[in-house]
Parts: sequence; structure tokens; C-alpha cells
Amino acid sequence: MTEEVPAVSVRRARATDVPAVVALLGQLGYAPEARWVRAWVCTGGPDDRCLVAEAAGRVVGLAHLHRVPFLTESAYRARLTALVVDEPARSQGVGALLLAAAERTARDMGATALELSTSNRRRRAHRFYERHGYAQPSRHYRKAVPPDGP
Ligand SMILES: CC(C)(COP(=O)(O)OP(=O)(O)OC[C@H]1O[C@@H](n2cnc3c(N)ncnc32)[C@H](O)[C@@H]1OP(=O)(O)O)[C@@H](O)C(=O)NCCC(=O)NCCS
Repeated sequence: MTEEVPAVSVRRARATDVPAVVALLGQLGYAPEARWVRAWVCTGGPDDRCLVAEAAGRVVGLAHLHRVPFLTESAYRARLTALVVDEPARSQGVGALLLAAAERTARDMGATALELSTSNRRRRAHRFYERHGYAQPSRHYRKAVPPDGP
């Protein structure tokens, strides 16, 4: 069910947001440990920024960026590791607001591009990113390297 979202603002996440951030990551289908999330939400380092969208004092979305140096480009790219809007608050522009804030933040971090991976099954997210100017200029490969592997 969709509910009307009051005025939304985007700000940097703080320690008190950790439970809300963990709950939102749950809506993405993940169950990260709170202490892992806290470490990145509360880091003062230059490579990570966690943003939250807030409406009427409630966290309704999050975006996390990590800055990655590309040796080939003499430049940083920022990677959007998570973007999620609380289910009842979707389709009202909160995602667009968070993505625009993430792009500004990427620029502030000195990155020249913002990139992300999204599961093949997240069709709605694909439409969302494409409408906001994101393209697929490359393939993304992944292989697990488990700690007990060869
Ligand atoms: C993808 C996601 C972040 C988008 O957030 P959102 O807040 O729903 O995004 P927006 O409201 O800006 O835009 C989404 C839709 O609402 C519509 N919309 C935007 N502003 C609107 C408004 N003011 N009123 C009504 N509809 C609006 C858009 O046309 C868009 O349509 P679509 O569903 O066909 O794509 C959100 O759907 C989500 O969290 N999905 C689950 C997690 C996920 O897939 N995350 C991405 C993983 S990489």
C-alpha cells in the first residue's frame, strides 16, 4: 500500500539511524549485522557516505556510496552499494531525491562517475536508473572467493 510522504529531506546518516538502515536493507532482501552497518554509517573516513531520506522524523530511504580509485583513469568513481526506499513511501519521488543527492555527494567526494550493480530481477529498479540517465557501458562479473576456498 502506498501512503502519502510528507516533505522529505536528505541528510547524512547517524548512529541512531542504524536500526532503520538495517530494516531498509531487509527490504532489499539482506540481513546485515547491525555492528557492520554501524561501522560504515558512522565512519568519518573520506571513502564512505551513508545518506538517509527523512520525512516527519522518520527514515524512509537510504543510499550508501563508496569511493573507489581507478588506476587507469587517474580518478575516483563512486559506487552506490545500496539504494532503497521504504515500501509504503515508493513511487512518490523519494528515490529520485536520494539518487540526486547521491550524485551530488559523489561529486563532493571527488568522483567523476556514480556506478552501481543491480540484480537482473529488479526490473523496476532498471527502469528507474535508466530514466535517470544510467547506462550499461560494461559487463559486471562476480565470483565468490570464500575464506575456505583454494
Ligand atoms: C528503486 C527504488 C529505490 C525507487 O525509489 P522510489 O522512491 O520508488 O522512486 P521514485 O518515486 O523517484 O520513482 C519511482 C516511480 O514512481 C514514479 N514517481 C516518481 N515521482 C512520483 C510522484 N511524485 N508521484 C507519483 N509517482 C511518482 C516514477 O514514474 C517511477 O515509476 P516506475 O515505478 O515505473 O519506475 C525503490 O523502488 C526501491 O527501494 N525498490 C526496492 C529496492 C531496489 O530495487 N533498490 C535498487 C537496488 S540496486
